[in-house]
Amino acid sequence: MRLMMWQAAEQTRNQRLRMNKTAKLEIDGKVYELPIVIGTEGERAIDISTLRRDTGYITLDDGYANTGSCLSRITFIDGEKGILRYRGIPIEDLAHNSTFVEVAYLIIYGELPNQKQLKRFSDLLTQNENLHEDMKFHFEGFPYNAHPMAILSSMINASSCFYLDLRGPYDPKRFEVEAARIISQVRTIAAFSYRKSLGLPIIYPKPTNKYTANFLHMMFSEPYQEYPLQPEVVRALDLIFLLHADHEQNCSTATTRFIASSQANLFACAAAGVCALWGPLHGGANQAVIEMLQQILETGDDGSKFITEVKDKKSGKKLMGFGHRVYKHYDPRAKIIKQRCDQLLKVLHREDPLLDIAKRLEQAALNDSYFIERKLYPNVDFYSGIIMRAIGIPLEMFTVIFAIGRMPGWIANCREIMESSDSRIYRPRQIYMGQTERPYVPIEERT
Ligand code: SDX
Repeated sequence: MRLMMWQAAEQTRNQRLRMNKTAKLEIDGKVYELPIVIGTEGERAIDISTLRRDTGYITLDDGYANTGSCLSRITFIDGEKGILRYRGIPIEDLAHNSTFVEVAYLIIYGELPNQKQLKRFSDLLTQNENLHEDMKFHFEGFPYNAHPMAILSSMINASSCFYLDLRGPYDPKRFEVEAARIISQVRTIAAFSYRKSLGLPIIYPKPTNKYTANFLHMMFSEPYQEYPLQPEVVRALDLIFLLHADHEQNCSTATTRFIASSQANLFACAAAGVCALWGPLHGGANQAVIEMLQQILETGDDGSKFITEVKDKKSGKKLMGFGHRVYKHYDPRAKIIKQRCDQLLKVLHREDPLLDIAKRLEQAALNDSYFIERKLYPNVDFYSGIIMRAIGIPLEMFTVIFAIGRMPGWIANCREIMESSDSRIYRPRQIYMGQTERPYVPIEERT
């Protein structure tokens, strides 16, 4: 019965996609009709896939702020209302009831796993948690102070060298193992790179540990003593991973889709996603927020001076962790993380002056016309660093934590492309603004 209801709903959905509404475009006196696509949540788009063929024109949209690159069934965001859902389930429900591993399965395969499916997925994560032993030599090659995002991206690709069956047409069975292997190993690579940066012995994963607990074990245990796993700490980090798991066509996810569209393997897609995420305007913002708060603390500013500087464009300063291309309201993830900050610090009997500064900055910004007019609110990165500091994650690892969390989202988006029989290579056009045709000038004639 449920399957029939789902099929009927799917049919309605597809009908909505094919609604025969059109948009009219007039160019040089000629009117062209372009199909309108309506998504299951009422989002509307003008399908321009035949525009160049019919009109000779292309569109131009710097930063793709107005351009939909694909039809996707994974994540829905309503930026005006501050809504985020993974496969239709609100992020608030998942944050309250689920775990990162269960959400990873949901995002990749489309449904919450039953007991049998969850056990199989967890077992695959355990079976694939170790790196090939020869990977140790790669770690030796990095300088001790190499940024862990550089190590992460290169080691994901290095790991792929040990699995020769990566190529070939999409095979669900092979995909299932590869997906689990990358999600599991990204955690191991991250922990190993942290240990190497401090000259500490590598701590291997323990098969009896669950995903997030194992990461903390590999990061902070010693050969002579186990890291004491506090449930609140494990749960707080698991929540950070869960909240970062996907976010529709953000910069790094769009990057992984580009790579998947050329039919490169899943490891190559994941390694590219890490590189895109590294930027301070994207995943690097969580590190930049803490650096900003530390600087404010050190100057003795209560935050008001910094806010004044941010509003003066000449300063070039931004309120890191604020603003978003899609959210023009409070990022729902930021709300959840902010609550968890207070809870965790209370449980750990700790205070963090940076949290107090962050809260003061938030209050000031939310009541300041500069931010209100530009609809700038806290995003996922504004408070996440406070939790990571409380857990003892070093600043340089903050974006690595984001990458571990986002891995299921990247993999799910790549799967959407790999599964689609009619997917095409991503190849945007451009408008050329360079020199018009001119002759080659021999060097002796050049001034
Ligand atoms: C993530 O896409 C995703 O989904 C990303 C992400 C995910 O889960 O994958 O949510 C994760 O990347 C969150 C964003 C993390 N980055 C930051 O916190 C860096 C600080 N934020 C800004 O750099 C900025 O808000 C962006 C990059 C997030 C969004 O940039 P946009 O959409 O290109 O916005 P914009 O630069 O056009 O800004 C519009 C106006 C400008 O002022 P005016 O020219 O209109 O006068 O708002 C101003 C901007 O100067 N502005 C800010 C600001 N962000 C925008 N002013 C001060 N501080 C800021 N943070």
